[in-house]
Amino acid sequence: MKKNKMKMLRKIFFKKRIPAILFFFILLNNVNGQTAMINFQSRNLASLNGDWNVIIDPTGIGEWRQVWLEKKPQKKTDFFEYSFEGGPVLKVPGDFNSQMRELAYFEGTVWYKKQFHYTVKKDKRLFLYFGAVNYMADVFLNGEKIGSHEGGFTPFQFEITDKVKDGVNAVIVKVNNTRQENGLPGLGYDWFNYGGITRDVALIETGNTFIEDYYIQLKKGSLNTVLGRVQLNGREAEQKVEIKIPELNLLYKTRTNEQGVAKLEFSSNFERWSPENPKLYKIIIKSETDSVWDDIGFRSIEVQGDKVLLNGKPIFLKAVNIHEENPYKAARAYSKEDAALLLNAAKELGCNLVRLVHYPHSENMIKEAEKMGLMVWSELPVYQHIQFADSSVPSKMEGMLNEMIRRDKNRCGIIVWSLSNETYPSTTNRDKALVELTKKCKVLDSSRLIVHVTNSQRYANNTFEMADTLYKYSDLVSINEYIGWYIPWQGKPSDTKWKLAYPDKPVFISEFGGEALYGSNYGPADEAAYWTEGYQEKIYIDQLEMFNTIPNLSGVCPWLLFDYRSSGRMHPVYQKGYNRKGLLSERGDKKKAWYIIKKYFGKK
Ligand code: GCU
Repeated sequence: MKKNKMKMLRKIFFKKRIPAILFFFILLNNVNGQTAMINFQSRNLASLNGDWNVIIDPTGIGEWRQVWLEKKPQKKTDFFEYSFEGGPVLKVPGDFNSQMRELAYFEGTVWYKKQFHYTVKKDKRLFLYFGAVNYMADVFLNGEKIGSHEGGFTPFQFEITDKVKDGVNAVIVKVNNTRQENGLPGLGYDWFNYGGITRDVALIETGNTFIEDYYIQLKKGSLNTVLGRVQLNGREAEQKVEIKIPELNLLYKTRTNEQGVAKLEFSSNFERWSPENPKLYKIIIKSETDSVWDDIGFRSIEVQGDKVLLNGKPIFLKAVNIHEENPYKAARAYSKEDAALLLNAAKELGCNLVRLVHYPHSENMIKEAEKMGLMVWSELPVYQHIQFADSSVPSKMEGMLNEMIRRDKNRCGIIVWSLSNETYPSTTNRDKALVELTKKCKVLDSSRLIVHVTNSQRYANNTFEMADTLYKYSDLVSINEYIGWYIPWQGKPSDTKWKLAYPDKPVFISEFGGEALYGSNYGPADEAAYWTEGYQEKIYIDQLEMFNTIPNLSGVCPWLLFDYRSSGRMHPVYQKGYNRKGLLSERGDKKKAWYIIKKYFGKK
C-alpha cells in the first residue's frame, strides 16, 4: 500500500511540480501509529468501546469521496452520497464479518465513526489507543488524518493533545482487511480473515510526563534478581522512581536520567511463577508525576543442552494450538470471557502451555493464561508465503515484533517468542530477514526462548531428516508434521528414525494431527475421506508411538484445540469452511482423539 501511495505521490509531485513543502506535509500526515504505552488497562482511560456508526465501502470509493470530511449540503443543489447517520452500527471491539450477514466473507473497507466529549485541560495530554485493528487502519480526528497503522494483532496509539477540541469530537477509522501480497500474513493463510476494530479503543489521559514503559522481570538465568527499566515520556525526564511490592515489603528507589530512563536491579526471595503455582505480585511503579500498577510474576525459562528448564528444573511442554476465535460465536475472540472459554478447555486437556497461533492474541488472553498457570507461546504472523524479497517486509516484521514484545514483556507466562511459521523454502532473502529479526528480538528481550517453526523436514524410509537453516537461530527444533494425515506412514511409528542437524537442541512437535467431523460415521474409520473420529484417533495413537522414538523430545502440541473457520476448507459435508483438526468441535464436543491426548498429558 505505502509503496503504491509513494509512487503515486512522486508521480503527482514530479508531473505537477507540487511545492516540496506540500509534499513533506502529505508525508508528515502519513504518520504511523505510535508504539503504544504499555498496560493501558491501569491508566486513566475513557473507553470508546460500544456502538460505532459505519459505512460499508465495497468499492473503496469512500477515499475519493473523502468520507472523513463528513460533508453536509450547503446549498439546495448539494448532495453527498454517503453519511454515517442513518447507517448500520457495529460493535467495537468485534470483527465486522460475524456481525452482519452481508459482511460474512467481506474483505475490503469499512468506515467507522465514534463521537466523544472531552474537556481540554492545560496540564494534561491525551492519547487515542487501539488494542488492534485488522488489517490497515487510517485514523481521522475531526476531519483531519492523524495517521495509519498496518498489522492486525498489536496495539498502537496517537497523541491527540494538540488536536482534540473542547466539547464534541469525532473519530473516524478507515478499516481495510484486504489481503496484502507484502503483508504479514501474506495472501494465503489457513484461518479466517476477520476484519474490523477487533480490540479495545480508549482515550488515555496522562500528565505532561507519564510512565510510558517499564520492564520488570528476572535477569536471564537468575532465580531472584530483577533486571529492568522504567521509561518516562515528557518534559520532566529526570525524576525519582519507586518500585513497590507491598506483599514482599519491598521498596526500591532509583532515578531516571535525562532521557527519562531508570535502570532497575534488585533482588528478593520471590515465590516463583509456575503452572502449579501461578504466583503474581501486585507491583506499583511510581514516579513524581505518575503511577501505574501491574500484577507481575517471576520465573526463569531457559534451554540447557537438550532440556527446557523452568525455574531451573526440566519441564515437558504439554501444549495445544489455539486460534483467537470464539468457536460458539464463530467470531474473533477478544474478551476475558472468550479467553476463559478457550483456556479452560486447554486446562481440562491437561496442558501447561498454549501456543497462540499464528499472531499475537489479545492482552486478555495472555493475562488470563498467566493467572491460570498456562505458559504462553506468542507468535508473529510471519506465516508460510511471505514476500521476503520485498524491501518493506523487514521493517513491517520489526514493527510487529516491537509492538508484540513491548506490550507483553512483563508477562512471565510468555516463555516463547515465535518469529515465523513454515516459511520454507530457505532462500537468501528469507534467511537474511529472519536472522536479522532474531537478532533484533534478542536485543529487545533475551530472557525468553526464541523460535522459528518449520515443516522443512524430509521424511523418507520412515526416517525424519531435520536440517533447516533456521535451527541455528532457534532455541528449539520446532517441527510441524502431519504424518498419518497429509503424509502416509512409511513404516511402524515405533520404528521411526531421526537425523537431527542439531542433536543437542530440545525438539518440540509444534503441530501434528488430522481432521474429523464430530460424530461422522459416513464411512469406514480406516479411510480418511469420511472425516471419522476413528481415523483421527488412530493418527494420535500412532503419533504418540512415534514420540517415544524422538531424541530430546521437550514437548508436543496438537493441531489444535477447537475446529475453527478457514474459508479454504470447502468440503460441503465434512468441513463447511472449517478446519476440522480440532480435538473439540466448534460446539465443544470432545472427539475420540481428545481422550488420547488427555491421557498422555495426564501421564507426563
Ligand atoms: C500448517 C499450518 C497451520 C494449518 C495446518 C493445517 O502446518 O501451520 O496454520 O492450519 O498446517 O494444515 O491444518
